[in-house]
Amino acid sequence: TITRREDYAPPAWRIPDISLAFDLDAERTRVRAVLEVECAGEGPLVLDGDELDLKSVAVNGQVLGEDGYTLADGKLVIPLSGDAARVETIVEIAPAANTKLMGLYASGGNLCTQCEAEGFRRITFFPDRPDVLSRYSVELRADKVRYPVLLSNGNPVAAGDLPDGRHFARWDDPFPKPCYLFAVVAGDLRALEDSFETMSGRHVKLGIWVRAADVEKCRHAMQALKDSMRWDEVHYGREYDLDVFNIVAVDDFNFGAMENKGLNVFNSKYILADAETATDADFDAVAAVVAHEYFHNWTGNRITCRDWFQLSLKEGLTVFRDQSFSADMGSPAVKRIEDVRALRAAQFQEDAGPLAHPVRPESYIEISNFYTATVYNKGAEVIRMAATLLGPENYRKGTDLYFQRHDGEAATVEDWVKALEDGGATDFGQFRLWYSQAGTPTVTADLAYDAAKKAATLTLVQAVPDTPGQSNKAAMHIPLRIALFGRESGSLLGPEQLFQLRSASATMTFENVAEPPVLSINRGFSAPVTVETKRSAADFAFLSAHDDDPFARYEAMQQLMMDRLVDAVKNDGTDAAPLVEAVSRTLKNQALDHAFIGESILLPTETMVAERLGANVDPDAVHIAREGLRRALLEGVGRETWTALHASLSDGGPYELTPDAKGRRRLKNVALGYLFADADDAAVAVAEAQYHAATNMTDRIAALGLLVDTDAPARERVLQDFYDRFKNDALVLDKWFTAQAMATGEDALEKAVALAAHPDFTIRNPNRFRALVGALAMNQFVFHRKDGAGYRFVADKLLEVDAINPQTAARFIAPFGRWRRMEDARAAMMRAELERIVGAPGVSRDTFEMASKSLV
Ligand code: ARG
Ligand code: ZN
Repeated sequence: TITRREDYAPPAWRIPDISLAFDLDAERTRVRAVLEVECAGEGPLVLDGDELDLKSVAVNGQVLGEDGYTLADGKLVIPLSGDAARVETIVEIAPAANTKLMGLYASGGNLCTQCEAEGFRRITFFPDRPDVLSRYSVELRADKVRYPVLLSNGNPVAAGDLPDGRHFARWDDPFPKPCYLFAVVAGDLRALEDSFETMSGRHVKLGIWVRAADVEKCRHAMQALKDSMRWDEVHYGREYDLDVFNIVAVDDFNFGAMENKGLNVFNSKYILADAETATDADFDAVAAVVAHEYFHNWTGNRITCRDWFQLSLKEGLTVFRDQSFSADMGSPAVKRIEDVRALRAAQFQEDAGPLAHPVRPESYIEISNFYTATVYNKGAEVIRMAATLLGPENYRKGTDLYFQRHDGEAATVEDWVKALEDGGATDFGQFRLWYSQAGTPTVTADLAYDAAKKAATLTLVQAVPDTPGQSNKAAMHIPLRIALFGRESGSLLGPEQLFQLRSASATMTFENVAEPPVLSINRGFSAPVTVETKRSAADFAFLSAHDDDPFARYEAMQQLMMDRLVDAVKNDGTDAAPLVEAVSRTLKNQALDHAFIGESILLPTETMVAERLGANVDPDAVHIAREGLRRALLEGVGRETWTALHASLSDGGPYELTPDAKGRRRLKNVALGYLFADADDAAVAVAEAQYHAATNMTDRIAALGLLVDTDAPARERVLQDFYDRFKNDALVLDKWFTAQAMATGEDALEKAVALAAHPDFTIRNPNRFRALVGALAMNQFVFHRKDGAGYRFVADKLLEVDAINPQTAARFIAPFGRWRRMEDARAAMMRAELERIVGAPGVSRDTFEMASKSLV
C-alpha cells in the first residue's frame, strides 16, 4: 500500500500520557502499556502492532473479550465511548529472535531498541505516527546479573532490588514525545562519565555506555558531546533540558545512530575511537554523528515532524547544523569539500536515477526507504542556501522564531520555511520549489568580454531535468556566489557578488573590467547545481592557482581532472600536461595547508566519471582511463617528487590529532597512492615499511589498502598481520574486509566471494555485511565485471540478508538502479538481477519498493 502526503489527517485520539512496564528477557519480554487516551476526532481507537503476541486488552479496568476489539493486518481496533479512557494492553515479544533490528532486540548480550521510523509498534500497541505526543513513564525489571544497567528516556526517578535476583529502574520523561523517540537499554555496560554546565547554570550528568573494555575509547565522543552542547547554545541559543544525557553504543545497528530523547543509541562505529583502531576520518565521523544526534534534541525532539513526509524538517536541518559544527571545530574549507564530495557521490546520483524524489516526497511504500541522501544531504544544502540568502543575522532571527513558535509541536517543512520568511523578513515563495521539485538543476554560464568597453557580460541559463513523475519544471531560486579574476594580474576584479538566479535565463554585467576575466562561479558551492561552462583547461589551471575561495580552487582542479578523464575515455588518450603542471604548482604552494592540497589533487572516483559520462558507460574503459591519468601524474610530477613528499611527511613524531597532523597524514597517504600508480618494488617497500612503523590506523590502513591492490608478496604478509593483530576488534576487522572488497585485480571478485565464506563473515551484523558486500557494490570496476558475476554475487547476498533484515538489504538496490547509464550488455544483466529480486519469493516490502522503482 502507498502512503500519500496529501492524505494526511490528524489523529482521532490523543495520548497525553503512557506508562510502560517491561519484564525484560532476551527470549521473552513482557510489556504492559497503559495509555491515557483523549478523543480528538471521530472513530474508534486504532493502534499499530507488528509481531506482538497479545495477552490481554482492558479498558478502564475491564478486561475485554475477543468481541470487544478486532485485531487484523497489524491494527488493533478498540471502539471506545466517551471522551477519555484508560487502555491497557499486555503483550509478549522475543528480542533474541528479532533479526530486523527494529523494535526491542539483542546485541552482544545486551538489549536495546530502535523505533524510528515504525519500530515502536514492534514493542507495544500504539498509534505509531509522529504526531501523537505523550509523556512517558517507564519501569524496567530484569535479572540483576545479566542486565545490571537499565536505561530509558528522561530522568531516572527510582531504582531498587526485587525478589529472585531481579531489580528495577524507573524513568520519567517530562517532555511529550512521539513514540519513535522511545528507547530502552538493558545490559552489562560501563560508562565514561562527565558533566556539563548549561548556559543557565544547570548541571547535566553525561554518560557514554559501552563494554567495560571500551570505556577509554569513548573520550573523543565525550569531548564532541560537550563541544556540541556548547555550540548549540552559542549558535542557536539552544540549551539542554534534562538532568542526564546518555549514549549507548551497540555493535548491531542498521544505520549510524538514533536521537532518542536523552538516550541516544549509536552504532559503535560512531562512538569507539582511539589512534590504534580508528582513522582520522573515523574520528571526524564520530564527532559529526555525536553532534548530529545531540542537535536533534531541538531539531527533531522538542520540535518533531507531523508526518514522515516532513522528515527533512529534522534531518536536513540537523545535517546542516552538524556540518556547521564540524566546520567550526576544524577546517571549514576541507569540511566543505568533503560535504560536497559526499553530496555528489550519493545525492546527485540519486537525483539522476530512477529513485529521484523531492526533499519532501509525495508518497512512499516503506518509509525506511526515504532516509536518503536527498532528504538528508540535499535537505541540508537547501537550508544552507536559505541561510546564504538571509545572511547570518536574519537566519538567526528565523531560527529563533521557529523555536519560539513550534516548541512542543509536530511541525511541517512549511512551518519551518514560514518562520525563516517571517523572522528573516524575506520572500521564499519561489524558494519553496527546492522542497517539491526533484532533480539537480543545471546552470549554464557564458562569459563574454568586450575589451573596448571594458565590460563583461555573464549569461546564465538554468534547466531542471525531468525526474520520475515530474516534468516541465518551473525555474528555481538559485543563489550563486560569483567573482571574476584578471587573467593577467591573477587577482580579483571587484568583490564577490551573490547573484540570485530566479528565471530561466538572466544576464549579469560587470563594468570596469580592465583585463580579460576568468569566471569563478558557485563559489563555496553556494547552490547544489551542476555548472556547465565553456571554460578551458587553461582557465581551470588558472583558477586552481589563483582563486581565493578554497572550494572554487578545489573545484577548478577537479574540473581539470574530470575533463581529462572524460577526454581519455572518449578519445583513448588526453593531453595531461596542463593538469601535471597544475598539480605540481599546487604541491609547491607554501600558502596552502596539507589537508587542502591532499583533497584537491585526488582524482575523481570511477563512479563520478561514469556519472559524468552519462550514457553508454563501459566501466573497464573508465578504469583504464583513470589508471592512465594516475600514472601520467606519477611520471609527470615525478616519482622522486612523490617519494620525497611522502618521506618529508613521515616524520615519525608523536601521534597527534590536531588539524595540522591530520593534514600531514592526508597528504602523505595521497602521495603514497600516486606512487602506487605503478607499484614497483620501491613503492611496495615504502608501503610495507609504513604499515609496520605506523603509530595509528590512518597510516596503517592506507598502506594496507594500497598493498592489497597489488600481487606483491607483501600483500599476504600484511593481510595476515592485520588479521592477527585485530581479529578480536569487530570494527577493525570490518576494515580488513573492506580493504579486500575495494581491490581491483583480475580475480578481485573471486577473492571477495571467498571472503563471504570466511568464519568471521556474517550477514547478521549490518556493519560486517556492509564492509564486504557494500564495499564491493561500490567498487565500480568489480561490481560491473563484464560477465555479470559481480551483479550476481551482490544480488545473491542482498536476497539472503533480505530474509532476515529488510532495511539493510534495501540499501543495496541503488547500484543496480544505474543500469540506464551502462552500455547495453551490462544494462541488460543489471535489469535481469532487479527482475530476479522483484520476483523473489517472500521479498520484503522495503526491497520490493526499491527494486521495482529501479526498473522503471
Ligand atoms: N534519525 C536517525 C538519524 O539521523 C536515523 C534513523 C534512521 N531510521 C531509518 N529507518 N532509516 O540520526
Ligand atoms: Zn538525523
